[in-house]
Amino acid sequence: MTNILIIHASPRRAHSISSNLALHFRQTLAKTGFSGKVVERALTDNPPAFVTQEWIAAAFTPEDQRSQADQAALAQSDIFIDEVAAADHIVVTTPMYNYGMPAILKAWIDQVVRINRTFSFDLARGDWPLEPTLSGKSMLVLSSRGEFGFHEGVRSQSNHLDPHLATCAGYLGVAKDAIETIAVEYQEFKDARHQASLEQAMIATERAAHEIAGTAVTEPGFQSSGHAEPAYSQAR
Ligand SMILES: Cc1cc2nc3c(=O)[nH]c(=O)nc-3n(C[C@H](O)[C@H](O)[C@H](O)COP(=O)(O)O)c2cc1C
Repeated sequence: MTNILIIHASPRRAHSISSNLALHFRQTLAKTGFSGKVVERALTDNPPAFVTQEWIAAAFTPEDQRSQADQAALAQSDIFIDEVAAADHIVVTTPMYNYGMPAILKAWIDQVVRINRTFSFDLARGDWPLEPTLSGKSMLVLSSRGEFGFHEGVRSQSNHLDPHLATCAGYLGVAKDAIETIAVEYQEFKDARHQASLEQAMIATERAAHEIAGTAVTEPGFQSSGHAEPAYSQAR
């Protein structure tokens, strides 16, 4: 059975553009008759804790020697990692905040990328001692930005969200060529360019859902009003 994990990082809930892309993703999946499992985690409902001294000490303590306090320090991390480990496809819905990822998403990544769970560390490997222990997953990033030009455009130098996520995704078992990013831009301008970007992103999201379900796009469920300007969609 195919497992999909959807991580929501926007606090805007129903008003969130990135979460609404995920809603369209799920609705498209449902139409395909997808019979796999979908787990959704809204990070703002149960915010990931920041890493503490206790967390670090517990993570570096061998599992069979952990105290109850150690286990408690890692309890949330264990739940998040189990969800990632069970997933074949990880969908991350995220705004761009201050040219990077929202702190809540970074906190989730800090809880999930953990020694002896999602990566091993061995100095015998020389200058590259970290090695992911998970593999074979894909990641779909559904994102929204207020400004524009973050992919090979006027603000590409300021895009610290996508490269950072891609680097961390390696430690979730996602290879660089297994990441697709669909991003709505121009949200702060609220003009025709934003509308066009949104429509193109909805269509790209629909196509991505069909790809995961293994079905063909026969009739687009999202009707474009015909704006030509493309959304930023960075396919593998
Ligand atoms: C705290 C904060 C920081 C933001 N920083 C940026 C930014 O650096 N670049 C940008 O293009 N948009 C920025 N925005 C705009 C959001 O990316 C935009 O509103 C987006 O649609 C939010 O995603 P959502 O609709 O899924 O919540 C920021 C918004 C907030 C609230």
